[in-house]
Amino acid sequence: MHPVAIEARSLNKTFITKTGLWKTRTRSTLAVEDISLTIERGELFGLLGPNGAGKTTTVKMLTTLLLPTHGTARILGLDVVQQTAQVRKHIGFAFSGSRGFYNRITATQNLNYFAQLYALDSAITRQRVPQLLELVGLGTRGDDKVETYSSGMVQRLHLARALLHDPEVLFLDEPTVGIDPVGSRELRQTIKNLSSLGKTILLTTHYMAEAEELCHRIAIINKGRIVALDSPEALKRHISGDSVIEACIQPGQVQGILDLLRVLDGRTLVEVKNITEPETVSIRTPEPARVLELLSPYLNPQYIQGLEVRNQTLEDVYVTIIKAGGQ
Ligand SMILES: Nc1ncnc2c1ncn2[C@@H]1O[C@H](COP(=O)(O)OP(=O)(O)O)[C@@H](O)[C@H]1O
Ligand SMILES: [Mg+2]
Repeated sequence: MHPVAIEARSLNKTFITKTGLWKTRTRSTLAVEDISLTIERGELFGLLGPNGAGKTTTVKMLTTLLLPTHGTARILGLDVVQQTAQVRKHIGFAFSGSRGFYNRITATQNLNYFAQLYALDSAITRQRVPQLLELVGLGTRGDDKVETYSSGMVQRLHLARALLHDPEVLFLDEPTVGIDPVGSRELRQTIKNLSSLGKTILLTTHYMAEAEELCHRIAIINKGRIVALDSPEALKRHISGDSVIEACIQPGQVQGILDLLRVLDGRTLVEVKNITEPETVSIRTPEPARVLELLSPYLNPQYIQGLEVRNQTLEDVYVTIIKAGGQ
């Protein structure tokens, strides 16, 4: 078996859309620009980025659903453009929000139907469908109609469907979007279970915490490009040592506080976070003691209502990276 599960080399996708009243003008959108990735077998890899970053487009190219404009990609050594049919035998995918089940019949009946569609052997189907329902935590609900399912359960059923032909490589596009906290926690557990069974998983998400909890490595993608790629720990170290001080400041006092912090050099980043009252000023700094010293005369509810000092989270890193490339 090929040692590398997913390999992308300079993937590009430009969409050409017709616009204007008479559809005579064309507009091109560079959705994915020069994406290169190597994902090892057994890895749980996260593609993390804001809406419109190009995550779904990337996954669609890797799963043979969309032709790249330039570049190549291979799954287990098989070319996604030249060897489409063989690639599809080895991959499973689930896109968020897609419907695709018959609501009036049971989950088991739905999976049996799709197994037939994929020309799966009937003896294997009989054995695998209950196993898969069990694996995704729907073991006791297989005989219930899909119309009685919550969105989290439907999403898990999508996962079971993606696994019917026992693919080695799984693509999950925003698996927990629109699912309540309990449902998404269960789904994350299912994803971890699949990973420990040795599946290679590429998942996309715009939730930092989800990527941090699940993924061995994360590529942060913004405006179609990879802007950072590493393990969650290494990404955090990337801007290591810094602390974040968040101060709730009385309206009208913000400018004074900002002026006060001007003496600090460029290693300290000051940002006014929200325009609600009181305003929050976020200060990322390698010298928290110095910042607190500067603020100390104003630590009184007339100026500063509350103050929190914490270490950087991966979310801080993510926001910093996206903002740095975002303008
Ligand atoms: N079929 C399409 N036609 C035209 N533009 C598209 C199409 N699909 C996606 N795009 C554009 O490509 C960019 C990336 O979209 P997408 O890959 O869906 O991002 P994400 O999944 O990260 O939210 C966006 O600007 C989006 O509007
Ligand atoms: Mg998407």
